[in-house]
Amino acid sequence: MRAVDLIRKKRDGGELSPQEIAFLVDGIANGNVKEYQWSAMLMAIVWRGMSDSETASLCDSMMKSGEIVDLSMIPGPKVDKHSTGGIGDKTSLILAPIAAAAGVLVPMVSGRGLGHTGGTLDKLESIPGFNVNLDLNQYRDVLARCGMVLIGQTPQIAPADKFLYSMRDATATVESIPLIASSIMSKKLAEGIDGLVLDVKTGHGAFMPVEENARKLATTMIDIAKKLGKKCIALLTNMEQPLGRMAGNSLEIYECIEVLKGRGVADLTDLSIELAAEMIVMAGISNTIVDARKVARQTIDNGTALERFRQVIAAQGGDPAVCDDPLGVLPMSRKQIPVTATADGWISSMKARDIGQSIMLLGAGRENVASRIDPGVGSEFLKKVGDPVEAGETIAVLHVNDETRLQQALELFQSAIEISREPGVQPLSVILDRLT
Ligand code: URA
Repeated sequence: MRAVDLIRKKRDGGELSPQEIAFLVDGIANGNVKEYQWSAMLMAIVWRGMSDSETASLCDSMMKSGEIVDLSMIPGPKVDKHSTGGIGDKTSLILAPIAAAAGVLVPMVSGRGLGHTGGTLDKLESIPGFNVNLDLNQYRDVLARCGMVLIGQTPQIAPADKFLYSMRDATATVESIPLIASSIMSKKLAEGIDGLVLDVKTGHGAFMPVEENARKLATTMIDIAKKLGKKCIALLTNMEQPLGRMAGNSLEIYECIEVLKGRGVADLTDLSIELAAEMIVMAGISNTIVDARKVARQTIDNGTALERFRQVIAAQGGDPAVCDDPLGVLPMSRKQIPVTATADGWISSMKARDIGQSIMLLGAGRENVASRIDPGVGSEFLKKVGDPVEAGETIAVLHVNDETRLQQALELFQSAIEISREPGVQPLSVILDRLT
């Protein structure tokens, strides 16, 4: 087999066989396929697309480029969740302790934030001492002891994806549903899970703002999971406005603890419960989603979900006192600056991407992979779409340390908020659909 022939085949609209795809992916490690050949292949895939079976083969080969973690020595159903990301999207850190307290094993390999969206690992690292860089033995050990574990991608997990993702970044080939779906799923399926619940976001702040594309991404990922013998469902959810009350790393940890204490706002609590309930059903712990929602809510009411979170924080080197006194333990900003309503009316839009970019200017997110994050900064949302406001009333509070780009951040935040003078603006639904 020669890479050049396979590139030509894809360029001309042909379908690659599983063996041909395995040759290309294995060629990354054994040197049979050069970087320039992969870059041509990636562009051919962007233009020609991939069939469902090619996409599943690509995912399978990427997954097998590294270790598929063996968790068989830890008895019990292993189910994870993946979100395509958004602003204030912190559900992982709420649903993992809920599902673990309900008896699901949750082995979670997460990512860092880039651009306007936040990353679970950055949020966790705002807890003093929390170590996300466990090796695979420590990963198994924490999972066995706590029923959940939260780490970053290790060099052993899907290394071909790491290589291809950096190539895609540099060759304008990120935007391709088969490439995105196989990249996400190769890492998730290498974790050693039996099933996966997907939270695929659509709307202004989502990676796939157009609903039709988000649906296609969700069904492609479900299809891959099923072809590779794993259970999978997806919720299609709204990322038109930020989720919950806080965005920014420490602020989001604080909010997760509030939800686990039963004091969370409805949109975030309900979505976290729904995703956890899907995991509980997938794990076979409840037979119906209605029962599973009750089980999930009980873990909040009886404190067992918070207790799980405390245990995993301690097991991964973090300060568990964060669960009792989050504002005393977490790094917080020096200054709070209100964002006020410019008119009387009803909030009709809070454009999530612009809000994410605004707090990124304050240091809450990364502009490039080398940027440093300020864990204490971000934003608190006092109003959401549908809420009435009066001119001068505080809509949100920016939490600020470095004021160098504060003016720019404030202007962007202000421009993200629209106020309608007409009554009847409805609050936004969070869960738009369930796809199987
Ligand atoms: N996240 C991933 O892990 N891979 C992609 O291709 C896009 C988002």
